[in-house]
Amino acid sequence: MKLAHPKKLAVRRTKAAALPLTANAHGSISQAAPPASTPAALRVLLVEDSAMDVALIKHMLLAARRDTSVTNVDTPEAFETELKLRVPDLILSDYTLPTFDGNRALEIARRIAPRVPFIFVSGTMGEEVAIDMLKQGATDYVLKNRLTRLLPAVSRALLETGQRREREAADEKLRRAHDQLRALTGHLQFVREEERTRIAREVHDELGQALTGLRLDLSWLAGKVRSGREPQLKIKNMSAHIDATIQAIRRIATELRPGVLDTLGLAAAIEWQASEFQERTGICCEMKIEVTEKIWERNFSTACFRIFQETLTNIIRHAHATRVDVRLAQEGDELVLTVQDNGRGITEREITGANAIGLMGMKERANQMGGSVQFVGQTGLGTTVTMRVPLAAAVAEGVR
Ligand SMILES: Nc1ncnc2c1ncn2[C@@H]1O[C@H](COP(=O)(O)OP(=O)(O)OP(=O)(O)O)[C@@H](O)[C@H]1O
Ligand SMILES: [Mg+2]
Repeated sequence: MKLAHPKKLAVRRTKAAALPLTANAHGSISQAAPPASTPAALRVLLVEDSAMDVALIKHMLLAARRDTSVTNVDTPEAFETELKLRVPDLILSDYTLPTFDGNRALEIARRIAPRVPFIFVSGTMGEEVAIDMLKQGATDYVLKNRLTRLLPAVSRALLETGQRREREAADEKLRRAHDQLRALTGHLQFVREEERTRIAREVHDELGQALTGLRLDLSWLAGKVRSGREPQLKIKNMSAHIDATIQAIRRIATELRPGVLDTLGLAAAIEWQASEFQERTGICCEMKIEVTEKIWERNFSTACFRIFQETLTNIIRHAHATRVDVRLAQEGDELVLTVQDNGRGITEREITGANAIGLMGMKERANQMGGSVQFVGQTGLGTTVTMRVPLAAAVAEGVR
């Protein structure tokens, strides 16, 4: 649509063009100091049927930034074709055109190039329509009889788009870093578990066998050394020492990785760990096992078992509990492990604390299997830790 007062505009045009506009680092028009490097040219797609308005708007944009290229269209087909051909940096559109209107132009732009800022430059747009267009996704609107607003509006739109892109890029980077960190954590846990298994096996087999051999030799020696109480006593002490060392080696190997986890499965390993815990701490530990488990995938069982161990360690270190109730159950297609103590109760602050690395590790392990761990504390009444993991992960490949 044609401008109402070309004369008035000519005055304003001079004013606008005189502004010390330069391109900033985000490719926007602004009144900042010139950047060190030249940004890419600014491509503007202008939907306008009046040749005079096209000339005027072009002139204003070029005066502000010389490397601006303006492509003009005035039919929906041409607009769509141009948008598909090259995504512009900015769309300026009249609201009332002979063959279509701003509504349609905005709809086409949102569909094909939703991230490109879209500014209406119209002589006829009422405030209500303008607000409606903004709601539908237009970036801004400028009335043709107040065209001095055009450059600041363009500037702001480009700046906001640049900032939004930077934010999105930063978010994406953060997401990627987070994914990598997660993958790394999973890998480290896997490697650590493999290492523990290997060391447990070697300690148990190599050292265990060597000591058993020594013990047999000592028995033989005891049979040969008949005279003297002292050598006999010495041999007896050495035997006892070797027995104690064999026991210690078994304990260390089991602590590194309980064989029962691999041979009898998770439920048995949890029961074994709970009775060890009771024996060692004197805290009464009640078990309820409500699963009919075949032996689940090794990494799945290991992750659940380590979560359980960490929960018990926390109870020993922090809870001041006298009783612990453990329940391992299958609920629908989830495996649920609940550990409830009657201690002092974990606080919300402790749960969300930056130092809660142990709790974070538990959550992360469950997370890797598509599950979760929840902590609930009641002051003076105790803490409940609930782990939920989909059983699908128990057979899935590569759970770490
Ligand atoms: N069962 C519990 N009862 C009461 N407080 C608990 C319990 N479990 C954890 N907490 C509190 O939550 C905090 C965080 O636990 P987390 O396991 O993350 O760290 P930690 O046990 O202190 O250290 P580590 O990193 O060695 O595990 C603990 O310091 C403790 O204050
Ligand atoms: Mg801990």
